Amino acid sequence: MTSAPAGERSTRVKSLDMCRGKRECGGGVRHDRLGKASDAGHKSGGIPLNAKDMLVKLYDLPDATETESALRAQGITIKQAMPHNMHRIVAYVKETFSEGWAGECSVSFSRNPPSCFVAVDGDTIVGFACYETTCLNFFGPTGVSPQYRGRGIGTVLLIKSLQAMHQMGYGYAIIGWVDEAQAFYERTLRAIPIPDSFPGVYRRAIGIEKIIAGRKP
Ligand SMILES: CC(C)(COP(=O)(O)OP(=O)(O)OC[C@H]1O[C@@H](n2cnc3c(N)ncnc32)[C@H](O)[C@@H]1OP(=O)(O)O)[C@@H](O)C(=O)NCCC(=O)NCCS
Repeated sequence: MTSAPAGERSTRVKSLDMCRGKRECGGGVRHDRLGKASDAGHKSGGIPLNAKDMLVKLYDLPDATETESALRAQGITIKQAMPHNMHRIVAYVKETFSEGWAGECSVSFSRNPPSCFVAVDGDTIVGFACYETTCLNFFGPTGVSPQYRGRGIGTVLLIKSLQAMHQMGYGYAIIGWVDEAQAFYERTLRAIPIPDSFPGVYRRAIGIEKIIAGRKP
């Protein structure tokens, strides 16, 4: 499937009218927070140039109901993951994004219900979002298959995950290691960057020293 018609997009969460600059979100991006992204957007060959954590208010989330209904009308549904589908979901994350993200996604299955939502088109997985995986109180990782981006799927996965975190009792959430998607979180949530938050909690990660050493300002 390709881009949604304009009429469908108009029902999307038009959150908060900030950061109106255009983004690039096509292409077969393979993301790995530990430096293996091969996307052309990483001008330094995969080294994050501008990574940071972001802070979001969970008591003031936008409503994504209309966007979710519009997606349902296109045959795309957002479901909380079931342990029954763990291997399929983790394999999707590894194939479409990275091994590192697959590891974080697998942690979401250590609870029941899993702290993971998936987007499915029929019975094909087309996106995912996890929370409480990298660290407690963290959202992420998340991703949507390249050909499904720009239709609101990432927004619904995000809002549903954050609502679940709010129901767990959190007042705020942290979105970990944000690089290219900063404008996505600013637009959808008014999330704000946390100063000096790189490498933050990721300083424990194997290989982080190389990333820090090669990082450009
Ligand atoms: C980030 C991502 C999950 C967004 O998913 P999506 O389904 O394309 O997002 P949506 O369609 O809900 O977009 C919501 C809004 O954010 C904007 N947006 C989406 N991705 C963006 C990005 N990477 N940069 C800037 N803006 C972005 C959209 O243009 C849209 O704005 P609009 O409402 O004015 O049209 C998806 O682009 C992706 O999988 N990227 C690669 C993995 C990644 O970077 N994950 C985040 C790691 S922190």
